[in-house]
Parts: sequence; C-alpha cells; structure tokens
Amino acid sequence: MARPKVLVSLNEGPEAAIRLLSKECDIIAAPPSREAILERVPGVDAIYWCCKVKLDAEIIKAAGPGLRAVSTMSAGYDHIDVRLLKEMGIPFGNTASQLTDAVADTAVSLVLAVTRRLKEGHRTVERGQWDAGLLGIDIAGSTVGIVGLGGIGQTFAKRIKAFNVGRILYTGHSPKPEAAALGAEFVPFDKLVEQSDVIVVACPLNAETRGMFNAEVFKKMKPTSVVVNVGRGECIDQDALVDALRKKEIFGAGLDVMVPEPLPKDHPLITLDNCVLYPHIGSATVGTRAAMAAGAAENILCALKGQPMPSPV
Ligand code: DGY
Repeated sequence: MARPKVLVSLNEGPEAAIRLLSKECDIIAAPPSREAILERVPGVDAIYWCCKVKLDAEIIKAAGPGLRAVSTMSAGYDHIDVRLLKEMGIPFGNTASQLTDAVADTAVSLVLAVTRRLKEGHRTVERGQWDAGLLGIDIAGSTVGIVGLGGIGQTFAKRIKAFNVGRILYTGHSPKPEAAALGAEFVPFDKLVEQSDVIVVACPLNAETRGMFNAEVFKKMKPTSVVVNVGRGECIDQDALVDALRKKEIFGAGLDVMVPEPLPKDHPLITLDNCVLYPHIGSATVGTRAAMAAGAAENILCALKGQPMPSPV
C-alpha cells in the first residue's frame, strides 16, 4: 500500500515530528509561504501546520479529496478554518497540553518584569545611570485576575500563588471545577478589570475575546495595575493600550503576543518604558517545542490509522 503523504509547513524545523512521521509517511516539506504550500499541497493525505500562514479554504480545498488529517503544532488555532474542516469531516488536532508550563512561565516572567520595571532599569544602567528609586508594584498581597482559566491560566495560577498573592480572580464562559483547588474566584469581566492589580490574558482569540481590552476597559483598571498578554495580540486593542500606557492610566503592560507579528521597529509600544515585549516566545523552549512537534505528529499518525487524535479540537 502507498505510504500516506504529509505536507509539513516548515517553520522552526519540527525535527521530532519529521522523525516520527517519516517512519510511516512520505514528507512533503513546504517553506512557510502561501505560494509554496499551494504548489505542494495537492494530493496529500495530511497537513502538519507549523506556520502563521492562514490555513484557509483555498489551501484545504487545494489538498483534494484524499485529505484525512490536519494538525497544528500550536495550542491556538485562530489561523485555521476549523469550521470548514469540521464540515468536511476532517479530523483536526492541536498541541494544547504540551506548552502550558512554558507559557505559564512566560506569563510569570512578564508579570515580574513589568511590576519591577525591568525595561526602565535596564535602560537606566545602559545609559550609565543609577536610579535606586525605580519603585515597582508588590505582587504579595495583590489581586491577580486571569482571563481564561484553561490549562495555561491554571498553571499560571499555581505559580503565582507561591508569591503570596491576596486573591485570584478569573473570568470566562462559566466557573471551572479546577478553580476551587486554586482558590480562584469566578467573577464577571468588569469586576475582574476593576479589582485586579495584575491581569493575565490567557484566553483564545475568538469573536468574544477580540478587542476585549479596549479604551473603556483600560479606564476601568487601577492606575497601579498591570496587564500581561500571553493569549493573542488581537484580544487587546493595541492603539488603546498605547494610549493608556502613555497617559499612565495603567502602570504597565507585558506582551508576548501583539499585532502585527513581527511588530514594526518604529512601533510606539517599543519606545514606551512601561511596556515589556517578547517576540511570541511563550512556547519557545527546546523541550516544549520537541513535545509539541511529537504531539502534532501523533495527532496525524493516529487519524491516518482511523484512530482518535490524542489532542483533538
Ligand atoms: C500557541 O501555540 O498557540 C502559542 O501561541 C505558542 O506560544
């Protein structure tokens, strides 16, 4: 029997995936460009997605009728036409569980960086100056609000509890059974925004969460509060954030995700002392990326054998 063909959209070289997949399948590698993918996708049995190009109807349909499995090597799937895959009955999976620790660590590091004014401190030393009066915000005793208590939100909550925070609030669709063990209290979004000292956005991007942090919301936040985003850049209205940071309506922001990615070199967020930026490195550790690569490959191998994916969406 012919070996199944898997298109792998190469980004950062998912070696662990290639190793696993190539035991049973032929790999069709495509650089992460729309043109290259469209040229190589016809006739494949599966698609392994590892890039930011939109996996939309054009590419899915170009694959042809033999397409039997799609997996993304990411937790988020806002760049994938999941509705179409479902309509077509094509199994789709992601790597939701493999990156929770790494992304939660990233969120903690951004919280510390912003509350303790890391960027200003670094710039001060770089200028050959010394400012021992760079006063930050205490995490101990503070109220921490988590938007989206999924895997990443819960893992972040466990970590931040160790800083002796006062309260943990969270918001989302509905209360989560896991919240009790974390001592986290379910509240409406507005209450979380008004009462939190530190807010961490760890929710997926969808119609409800797009632009949920807008000018009105920043005005409701405490002037001493901090917002950290490890979800998706589009959850925050970035112009409104720039305005709020400039006017000191909030104390600071820490972003692992932004719009667009990469952020242009002359973007105002880069110049602001009270905004710490990472280049979307939430899951970027050697171990996490290897686990994600293997997880996405397993999703595809299982679906090709007619078995359930280990991490279906
Ligand atoms: C994902 O996989 O969706 C994350 O954004 C990685 O940081």
